Amino acid sequence: MPAKGNVRRIGVLTGGGDCPGLNAVIRGVTKPAEDYGMTVYGILDGFEGLVEGRAKELHNADVSGILSQGGTILGSSNKGDPFHWPVENNGKVEIEDRSADVVKNYNAWNLDALIAIGGDGTMHICNKLCGLGLNIIGVPKTIDNDLEATDVTFGHDSAVYVVTEALDRLHTTASSHHRVIVVEVMGRYAGWIALHGGLAGGADIILIPEIPFSWESVFKKIHERELMGKRFSLVCVAEGARPEGGDIVITEKDKKRTDPIRLGGIGKVVADKIEEGTGRETRVTVLGHLQRGGSPTPFDRILSTKFGAFAIELAAEKKFCRMVALKGNEIKNVKIEDAIARQKLVRQDNQALIAARRVGISFGD
Ligand code: F6P
Repeated sequence: MPAKGNVRRIGVLTGGGDCPGLNAVIRGVTKPAEDYGMTVYGILDGFEGLVEGRAKELHNADVSGILSQGGTILGSSNKGDPFHWPVENNGKVEIEDRSADVVKNYNAWNLDALIAIGGDGTMHICNKLCGLGLNIIGVPKTIDNDLEATDVTFGHDSAVYVVTEALDRLHTTASSHHRVIVVEVMGRYAGWIALHGGLAGGADIILIPEIPFSWESVFKKIHERELMGKRFSLVCVAEGARPEGGDIVITEKDKKRTDPIRLGGIGKVVADKIEEGTGRETRVTVLGHLQRGGSPTPFDRILSTKFGAFAIELAAEKKFCRMVALKGNEIKNVKIEDAIARQKLVRQDNQALIAARRVGISFGD
């Protein structure tokens, strides 16, 4: 559906799990839109609103004062995949394709383009909507930082800040009580939050999905620290981490979600095993959604604003089916289909990983 003439009407939605910086992107899109002579439609609750036809016009006044606010003023959902729409029938969940409703609403609102802010799930949906002829522009968000096409996603820095602060606080209590404290962090199948948060917060052991760990090696590190007179240890474990030969720990499977698997629980498993294997009193803290809530860091506010402002520029230039991306210090754009080709995982040659090893942090391998 190529936009004829100038691009006049833009939809914007936030899909998947929220994170700090979403409002800054919405503001970054809406404020410049007026200068381009565009009207912005905020679609409510992510793809759910796109299927169900729920949207409202956004004006400068609506986005004033939201730069520092966490969450999203538009609402979001991780259950609204139009191609995989869950319908409950007599307690059974059945899946329908509601993509025709998306096309219908897009046309009914006379949209020339749609800016979708989201993670890999959202970008996969965007790619399929491009296939239906919709003019989509993607903006990459996720605390997990697992999108290969951009150096970093907004939200990640804010989550790392929360992990760092938590580790700083847990340090003093672990040290006072001579305990081991295990901190479980999010990140899905990528270890970026654990690696960066653990490094910044001075964790002694970091366990990530990319490096299956051995229990012996974890116990050894704790004993070594004791031999050096350090009677406490901090372990930062990613929710997707697993022991060698073991499985990832899943909290629940929910067919209604875009990604049916909800991870969580490895922190308790690690804490119990450490207490059993070392005899040291061990506690666990699960940071959970604290990592997604609250105000974005300055880095995330700047990146989100740049992403929003560049997305509207792409729309004005009619560069569709592309995602904005940070490359070095510049905002570029990449094809959405290329952006979803690979997940970004922590590699052995990652410099943060190498530096962490050099300062004595164990990865349990
Ligand atoms: O993708 C972001 C994320 O916070 C993951 O790190 C985590 O596994 C998942 O979302 C949690 O999802 P929910 O909020 O649906 O429990």
